[in-house]
Amino acid sequence: MTGIPQPFGLLAEVTHQCPLHCVYCSNPVELFERSDELTTDDWLRAIRQAAELGVLQVHFSGGEPLVRGDLETLVAECRGLGLYTNLITSGLGLTERRAESLVSAGLNSAQLSIQGDTAESTNLVAASKRFDKKEAAARIIRDAGLPLNMNVVLHRVNLDRLDAIIDVCVSWGAERLELANTQYYGWALRNRELLLPSKTQLDEAVAVYERRKAELAERMELLWILPDYYEPYPKPCMGGWAQTALTVAPDGRVYPCPVAEEITTMEFASVRDHDLKWIWAESPAFQAFRGTDWMPDPCRSCSRKELDFGGCRCQAFALTGDAGRTDPVCIHSSDHHLVQDALDRANGGDGADPDTDREQLVYRRPTVSARRS
Ligand code: SF4
Ligand code: FES
Repeated sequence: MTGIPQPFGLLAEVTHQCPLHCVYCSNPVELFERSDELTTDDWLRAIRQAAELGVLQVHFSGGEPLVRGDLETLVAECRGLGLYTNLITSGLGLTERRAESLVSAGLNSAQLSIQGDTAESTNLVAASKRFDKKEAAARIIRDAGLPLNMNVVLHRVNLDRLDAIIDVCVSWGAERLELANTQYYGWALRNRELLLPSKTQLDEAVAVYERRKAELAERMELLWILPDYYEPYPKPCMGGWAQTALTVAPDGRVYPCPVAEEITTMEFASVRDHDLKWIWAESPAFQAFRGTDWMPDPCRSCSRKELDFGGCRCQAFALTGDAGRTDPVCIHSSDHHLVQDALDRANGGDGADPDTDREQLVYRRPTVSARRS
């Protein structure tokens, strides 16, 4: 594959089924049913092809990957191929027995998500009161001998509780906590008016993060995923299009990132029909925005084009309908007003108030597209 980079990560979205209904979910708005999902043999073939392609890590995700009864078989295949495996889970459905069988199959680590620091805040964000299950899952993960990584998506509804959220993760024994400010795609874009924090709220949260990071340095690693709407330049999304990782969706279609399924103007190939090597190296969708030749102005003549690669293709599509435009987060983008207008509303007196406008939150629900069914 001369000149084509080698991917090191595979995100295996084994199902879209999920017991939670998070208002920020980055899964596509149109979800797959169980009957659309790849079979065990399809996944085993895809994993073998990923290893041949150079992938080193496989992250099992969804939806809730524990829904799949064949997860142990897939993990065992990865172990046989020398691949590192990580389970990205809501914790709901994780029992001692399941954790033990996954560890026996070779699972290397688990990342547990929380939505808040109480059952009430979890219910507001995810329409689920099972905070107790998450606490139990943290214990199960630790007792199974796995490192406990945790993740919380931050937004206007929970940013003011950051101190308490960090306390929860410390008390549950997390070794690493990813504080991921919401990225506005999929369901999160639908709920943007209620999720986008004010600048004041964000600055206060940054102060909390920096204080706790220093305080916990010996105990827990804290990571802060930037809220890109408040940055002058876009994030170097995925390290550039089709550079470092690939995502296989529940139905077998393959994407350069977990959100690209939302780009409805592009055709993405499936592992049901093609080898992963061809999809990665030669399929038109993976070639479309690889490198810098595709860039329009202002990126084409910008000194940052090798730093941020023109930003996020999914965000460009979500906001402008054209995945080939400069990410509107960029201050040089002619579409930047689309981001600035949202920020002005979040910081103005007439912005939505999550405490009084909660009924406006749109929860993730299993809608299935006519295209797929
Ligand atoms: Fe990045 Fe393009 Fe903006 Fe330059 S113009 S900072 S390359 S998005
Ligand atoms: Fe798809 Fe950024 S999320 S390129």
